Amino acid sequence: MDPQRRRGLTLGSSILATPRSFDPCMPTFFDTGSKYHTAWRRCFDDEIAGRDALSTALINNAALFRSQAQPFVDAWLATAEPHAQPAVAACVFKLIMRSLFGVTNPDDVPEGLVAAVVAFSSTLGTLGTVVPSWSHDFPLCGVTQTKYQEPARHQLAAFLLAHCSADAPRDDLKGAPFSWARMAAECDVGAPQFVQSVVDAILFAGVIGTTTLVHLSALPRLRGVNKPRWPTRVAAQAPQPSRDAYQAMYRADSTAWILEAVRLQPPVQSTGKLLPTDERCPFMRGDVTLPRGSSVVACLYYASVDKAAWGDDADAFKPGRPKERHLNWNGPFGGDAPRKCPGEQLSFELGRVMLDGWMGSKHAEVESVAA
Ligand code: HEM
Repeated sequence: MDPQRRRGLTLGSSILATPRSFDPCMPTFFDTGSKYHTAWRRCFDDEIAGRDALSTALINNAALFRSQAQPFVDAWLATAEPHAQPAVAACVFKLIMRSLFGVTNPDDVPEGLVAAVVAFSSTLGTLGTVVPSWSHDFPLCGVTQTKYQEPARHQLAAFLLAHCSADAPRDDLKGAPFSWARMAAECDVGAPQFVQSVVDAILFAGVIGTTTLVHLSALPRLRGVNKPRWPTRVAAQAPQPSRDAYQAMYRADSTAWILEAVRLQPPVQSTGKLLPTDERCPFMRGDVTLPRGSSVVACLYYASVDKAAWGDDADAFKPGRPKERHLNWNGPFGGDAPRKCPGEQLSFELGRVMLDGWMGSKHAEVESVAA
C-alpha cells in the first residue's frame, strides 16, 4: 500500500491531496513506482481489464463485444431522451458491468445501484470528486459526498463482493467469479479495501470518463448543438462544421472522428506525476529546475490545442491527425506511461458502439429535420 499517497490526480487544475471521498487505496493516489501500484496495475490489467472473456470480445474489430453490447445500446436508444446525461451514464455503466464484470443479464444489476451510479456521475457527484481536499469542509462538498457519491461507491462494492466473487455461493453468482482475496493479498491490503479501490477507479475513470466522451465530446457534434469552448476566439478562427458535416465525417472514419472529438473536448482533462528525477521546467523562462518528487501536472485540455504541437489549425475539427500524437488515454508521458489508461480499448469501443447506434437510429435523422 502507498500510505503516503505520493501521487495526485488533478482535474481542472484542482489538486486532490486527501479527499475523504476516496479510500487511500484509490489509484488516484498511487505512487507509480511503488510496490502497491505495480501490484495493483498487474491485477487490474491482467485479471479485470484484460480478463480472457473481454480480450476475446475485443479482437477482430471488437465484433463479439459489439454483438454483446447491441441489446444494451438498443435499450438506451429506446429511452425518452437518450442524449441526456443520465441515460448515457446508465448505458455506460451497464455495459461496463457486462464487459468488465461479466454480468450478462442487465436485470441482475439492481435499479437502485444504477440510479446511484447515475447520481455519482452527475454534475454534483463529479464536483465532489474533483474539488480540492480543503473544500470538502464546506457543506456543499459534504452533501455531494454523502448524497451523490457514497451510495454508488458502497453499493457497487457490496454488489461485486456478493455477486462477482469466487467466494460467493454458486446461486448468488451473477457475474464472473473474481478472486478478490487473492488480488488483495498480492497488493497487501484487505479484500474490502481492494474492491473499493477498483470500484473508485471504475466509477471515476470508467463511468465518468466514458459518459463524458459520449455525452459531451461526441453527441453534441452529431446533434449539431456543439458550442465551441472559447466562443469568441474559436468562432473567429475555426467555424463550427454543420451537423450534417459532422455526421458525414463520422461515417467516413469513426476512429479518427472520435479521437478528434476527444482531443477538442478531453473527458479526462489533466494528468500528473511525481518527477522521478530533477527536471528543468520548460516554462517560466526555462530557468527553473524542479526537484525530484515535485508533483507536475499536464493539462490535456490546453495541451491538445497547443498550436506549437498541432499547428495553426489546432482549434479546427479535422479528423485524421497523427494518432501517435493524441494524449487522451496516455497523458503526456508517452504510450508506456506508468499510469496509461488500462481501459483505453474498452472505453473507445464502448463509446463507438453507442455512437454507431445513435447514427443508425431515428435520432440522427429526426434531429436533422428538427434542428
Ligand atoms: C471503461 C472505461 C475506463 C476504465 C475502466 C478506465 C480505467 C482507468 C484506471 C484504472 C486508471 C488508473 C491507472 C493507474 O493508476 O495505473 C485510468 C487512468 C487514466 N484514464 Fe482511464 N478508464 C476508462 C476510461 C477512460 C476514458 C474515456 C479516458 C479519456 C479519454 C481515460 C483516460 C485516462 C487517463 C488520461 C488516465 C491517467 C490519469 C493520470 O495519469 O493521472 N480513461 N483509467
